[in-house]
Amino acid sequence: MKILVTGGLGFIGSHTVVELQNEGYEVVIIDNLSNSSVDVLDGITAITNKKPIFEKLDLKVKQDVQDFFKRHNDIVGVIHFAASKAVGESVAEPLMYYENNITTLVYMLQELSGLGKKNFIFSSSCTVYGQADKLPITENAPVKPAESPYGNTKQVGEEIIRDTCNINKEVNAIALRYFNPIGAHPSANIGELPIGVPQNLVPYITQTGVGLREQLSVFGGDYPTSDGTCVRDYIHVVDLAKAHVVALQRLLNENNETNFEFFNLGTGKGSTVLEAIQSFEKVSGKALNYKIVDRREGDVTAAYADTAKALNVLGWKTELTLDDAMDSAWKWEQKIRNK
Ligand code: WQD
Repeated sequence: MKILVTGGLGFIGSHTVVELQNEGYEVVIIDNLSNSSVDVLDGITAITNKKPIFEKLDLKVKQDVQDFFKRHNDIVGVIHFAASKAVGESVAEPLMYYENNITTLVYMLQELSGLGKKNFIFSSSCTVYGQADKLPITENAPVKPAESPYGNTKQVGEEIIRDTCNINKEVNAIALRYFNPIGAHPSANIGELPIGVPQNLVPYITQTGVGLREQLSVFGGDYPTSDGTCVRDYIHVVDLAKAHVVALQRLLNENNETNFEFFNLGTGKGSTVLEAIQSFEKVSGKALNYKIVDRREGDVTAAYADTAKALNVLGWKTELTLDDAMDSAWKWEQKIRNK
């Protein structure tokens, strides 16, 4: 069975392609290489010995999207990762984010009408909850006004899919709300490839560890948490990738009560920034150079998932730990820096 993975050469997309191939699916990747490299194809192939079909395409070009689906009308499922995802950049360039994240989603959904099977998985984010009133965060937690245009594209994206499913009962969709994806494939053939200065914690930690960055700034040490630093739910990207395969199988089995569902994907455990640093120091055997500085605008104090729905409905839970993820991230960093 042929699955389309948009953004399939990106961080989470590439790991999901590997897990799909491991399960015997034929994978077609669309990527415009704006935030990834075609070399990732070799990394995927080195792991699975199966080279995915790859088409370099910009989903903002409607005609190209239409032509693609004419060439691949035997697709039975779509996993849609392709989007811009830098919170800070989205504040500076909101219209670029709405064009790249929303227009492309609409074009993709319009093309489902030409497919026999209309199964669609959407890459969403726990950012839709903002600072949740209760922890751990369940799927019943209210979606809060977005703190950034990026976060808003995830909220609006889910609403567009919900409206599509309401009017077209043949469309089966699942939105997956990721907590904090980190780590790399244990083979160190694929991993995170941030462009420029990393915005996210773990790549900044590993780049500091490998000497690419001088010092990690810890954004805030005065939060009401166990050690004063923010709490997040760091989920290994391989666990996250496997969740996409399970969600796809749920759609393909077509035995769902509703044709639009959403799930939180996390470990259910919160870790502070300092605990993440301690994990790095443990797995690497290196002391990390960091300093606590002022808070970062827009950060929530704490966010970690209630994992019950994903376990009870999808039968999925994480198997890997923070140390496993940090170890894989560190091995990947050393490999790409030839250290
Ligand atoms: C984690 C913690 C920072 C960098 C964002 C998006 C979310 C998703 C994941 C795309 C925070 C602290 C970070 C640094 C630090 N993105 N930190 N020094 O902000 O929880 O989530 O990325 O899907 O949608 O909102 O992740 O890794 O940026 O930050 O102290 O140099 O690490 O303050 O507490 P975040 P993050």
